[in-house]
Amino acid sequence: MKDTSVNNFENLNSNFLRKSKARLVNQKSKVIWLTGLSGSGKTTIAYELEKLLLSKNFICCVIDGDDVRGKLNNDLGFSENDRKENIRRVAEVAKMLVESSIITICSFVSPTKSIRAVAENILEDDFIEIYINSPLDVCEKRDVKGLYKKARKGEILNFTGIDSPFEAPLNPFLEVKSDLMNIEDSVNLIFQKIIQLIEMKF
Ligand code: ADX
Repeated sequence: MKDTSVNNFENLNSNFLRKSKARLVNQKSKVIWLTGLSGSGKTTIAYELEKLLLSKNFICCVIDGDDVRGKLNNDLGFSENDRKENIRRVAEVAKMLVESSIITICSFVSPTKSIRAVAENILEDDFIEIYINSPLDVCEKRDVKGLYKKARKGEILNFTGIDSPFEAPLNPFLEVKSDLMNIEDSVNLIFQKIIQLIEMKF
């Protein structure tokens, strides 16, 4: 029979360490997972949320798709499997951070339910899904990086919303209609909703 006592000890130990770290930094940690189309405002919201949290003495870290894809995951493309691997690696990194009591803001298109499930399975209760919802036509009109134009011309393949699917989350913790709200209001809304999760209560 398998000896589970070692695992039990490890679990108790890591729970104890997490609580000790949480007390030290005076916050509870979660992974704030921003999902949405390219151009929906995820990255801007992520970094502005980081600034707001810091101003309220919460320590946090942003992991952003465009950044990660130029570094840690620069060997991956945009097929379903590569996107899953992208999200799997990021979720494992986020797990290390969140278990060290750092609030972790992940900003990834993470376009399908099964891709987001990869992150949720790794992060379990720490996974807090926020849907940054701007309709495709709005994102395409903005086209800050000029990628939609290229995708329409067929110069980029498997582009989310054009020739690759985006499945809206059915039951996110929060939906932010980023086409109807400015960045400041979007960030304030997220903060008001997550404060109950991250505040240490005595
Ligand atoms: S994810 O689907 O694997 O979660 P991720 O968030 O890391 O995607 O990267 C998305 C960013 O990569 C977009 O904001 C965009 O700038 C760029 N990008 C390049 N090619 C694609 C593509 N085919 N589909 C979506 N985004 C792409």
